[in-house]
Amino acid sequence: MTRVGIIGIGFMGWIHWLAYHRLSDVRVTAISETIPKRLAGDWRDIKGNFGPPGEQVDLTGIGAYANLDDLLRDSNVDLVDITLPTAFHADIAIRALEAGKHVLCEKPMALQLADCERMVAAAKKANRLLMVGHVLPFFPEYHWALQVIRGGEYGKLLGGEFRRVISDPTWLTKYWLPEHIGGPMLDLHIHDAHFIRLLFGLPQEVTTTGRQRNNLPEFWHTQFRFADRDLAVAATSGTINQQGRPFDHAFEIHLEKATLMFQFAVIGGEGRYLCPPTLLDSSGNAQHADIPGGDPTDAFVNELREVTNCVRDGRPSDTLGAVLAQDAMRICAAQTASLQSGKPVTLNT
Ligand SMILES: NC(=O)c1ccc[n+]([C@@H]2O[C@H](COP(=O)([O-])OP(=O)(O)OC[C@H]3O[C@@H](n4cnc5c(N)ncnc54)[C@H](O)[C@@H]3O)[C@@H](O)[C@H]2O)c1
Repeated sequence: MTRVGIIGIGFMGWIHWLAYHRLSDVRVTAISETIPKRLAGDWRDIKGNFGPPGEQVDLTGIGAYANLDDLLRDSNVDLVDITLPTAFHADIAIRALEAGKHVLCEKPMALQLADCERMVAAAKKANRLLMVGHVLPFFPEYHWALQVIRGGEYGKLLGGEFRRVISDPTWLTKYWLPEHIGGPMLDLHIHDAHFIRLLFGLPQEVTTTGRQRNNLPEFWHTQFRFADRDLAVAATSGTINQQGRPFDHAFEIHLEKATLMFQFAVIGGEGRYLCPPTLLDSSGNAQHADIPGGDPTDAFVNELREVTNCVRDGRPSDTLGAVLAQDAMRICAAQTASLQSGKPVTLNT
């Protein structure tokens, strides 16, 4: 039985809570939250951009702590799940590791690369697992692409294009503050930076052009250059400073013997595939992937299954490991530096 303590019962805390309850051999044994009514189980005012609205929950038998240090001291907790605002991730993750807990931290790992380095060092010193909630590889379209690529039937990867665009999220009042959320590079594109790192490794150089707002990247295009010069990889991401373009994500991935395509967007208030996940083989046949539909929390169930299995088996995750997440941060930092300097930026690989 893996025993989990969740710190921060907001949108993500609620989604994780729901997901843990769908896993066997896992139990949420503690929560920590500063808002008194949430600490008492009234989660009805929690809302996000997917999943069900919050509910009144029964916390009988669960440690409910106003002070997160009490959760870190709770011997009924093996894994601390940090679903706090990003600015708190680094310090609380380090404190949890020092308290001897395994840690899952929501994405992005932190706001600064130096904080990621501190987190990785703390995990090493404590000899505990540190994972970061990069859920994208567990979304069915991305999971399908990973399976096809890793299956090897269609040859080696040649490259790909990745897209993630949203309207300005005006309801997130701290979105454009570097010390709180850090804008769309860290909040949004980090998902694709992590996926690109997972597929192709760490790029040697990035070239990014685009717009800034409040000294943060707002909307941009990036080309990634790898040691293997034949890899052609690009991404477009960011925020459009208008409403009415709520969400769009897509990829086109090239393999030697197939192309994988997909695009999903919210248009006129309705979410739909502009291109369902499709494999085009070298004879020109189009095969539509059999994608399990429905509940977006399914991806979190699969992500948290991997996390809790890693804790149970004492093994690092090859998808959610902290070093991979730190690399995603390095990629984003290089993209920001390139956009701001108008020059290609080299990563030390
Ligand atoms: N993986 C994804 O797709 C995804 C989606 C949304 C958010 N996120 C990430 O999840 C994290 C949380 O985002 P959110 O939207 O759930 O935020 P949120 O504001 O809805 O929730 C944060 C909660 O933490 C609580 N809190 C703050 N300080 C605390 C403290 N010291 N002790 C205990 N509780 C405290 C707040 O009261 C709030 O309830 C962010 O890092 C964000 O980037 C990830």
